Amino acid sequence: MLLLHLSDVDENRWANAYREALGDYPVVRRGDDFDPADIEYIFVWKPKPDAFDGLTGLKAVLSLGAGVDALLKHPNLPDAPIVRFVDDQLSQQMTDYVVAHVTMHHRRFTRFAADQKARAWRQFYPPISSETNVGIMGLGVLGQDAARRLSALDFTVRGWSRSPKSIEGVACFSGPEQFDDFLSETDILVDLLPLTPDTTGILNMDTFRKLRRGVLEDGPVIINAARGGHQREADIVAALTDGTLGAASLDVFEVEPLPQDSPLWALDNCFITPHIAAISNPKTGVRYFSQVVNDQRAGKPLINVVDRDRGY
Ligand code: NAP
Ligand code: GLV
Repeated sequence: MLLLHLSDVDENRWANAYREALGDYPVVRRGDDFDPADIEYIFVWKPKPDAFDGLTGLKAVLSLGAGVDALLKHPNLPDAPIVRFVDDQLSQQMTDYVVAHVTMHHRRFTRFAADQKARAWRQFYPPISSETNVGIMGLGVLGQDAARRLSALDFTVRGWSRSPKSIEGVACFSGPEQFDDFLSETDILVDLLPLTPDTTGILNMDTFRKLRRGVLEDGPVIINAARGGHQREADIVAALTDGTLGAASLDVFEVEPLPQDSPLWALDNCFITPHIAAISNPKTGVRYFSQVVNDQRAGKPLINVVDRDRGY
């Protein structure tokens, strides 16, 4: 039996899609009449504290999110394997977001928007894409997809990961010891890391000061489409104000929704989106997780299982 336990999304829509996909295999929601001991799979997003109570027969926890940082902090998380969402369409959505923001900053929309507001005709020529270095933090499923599409657009792509990588057309760096080298030639820094103790607060003033200056005229740029826990927002405000950064695009925040009194709202060189860079959708999500359930029931191993020690 599969139990859905979703907050802040349309659970009914997911339940209907699962029932259609899983046929005879029972699908239940909170409030339905079922014995918790019969639940083999629980599909979760922002589970409540009692989400796992009584689930003694659990075979896997299925995470609607690609990121599992919040789930791993759940006080009553059972010992079952956690399968996270990995999907081509999710990657495509994220890459769409990254490409849109990289190209916008590369062509200095911030500056031309300000000039337009001031009715000012100030000619200025941004560097060509191949002379603009985009550094991607996180070379996993999403980071590699973004790297591939940015390379195809002729940007010079660099990447940083925990373990060493070799990716055609991407200058690869790894580990804390190569972080400064990675930053030193990066003009646009894209964050696609998971949130772990090692990556918490990584977008701070010290990091911003190490980025390359001189290619993007108003200063280097950051794009965070990963997790708000990566960023020190007071540092971002200071850096966007004193010129350490030329601009930022932020899809995620220390506190979501972003509080009304956050100074980020008022900064012309800060682009804010409400955690929408890549949203798991019922069509592809149900297809993926139904396959996971059917495969495991047929004796095949689980895929995309989270490594709890690494934290992602
Ligand atoms: P992934 O496949 O697990 O990739 C994570 C990458 O980060 C890997 O390359 C990993 O290195 C690297 N990494 C982890 N810890 C590191 C460290 N301490 N130092 C350097 N590199 C480190 O994850 P993904 O599927 O690409 O997703 C990335 C994140 O995007 C998710 O965790 C989630 O938080 C976020 N996300 C956001 C949205 C949104 O709408 N805003 C949507 C989906 C996902 P190794 O390759 O060496 O392991
Ligand atoms: C969204 O933020 C996700 O982790 O899928």
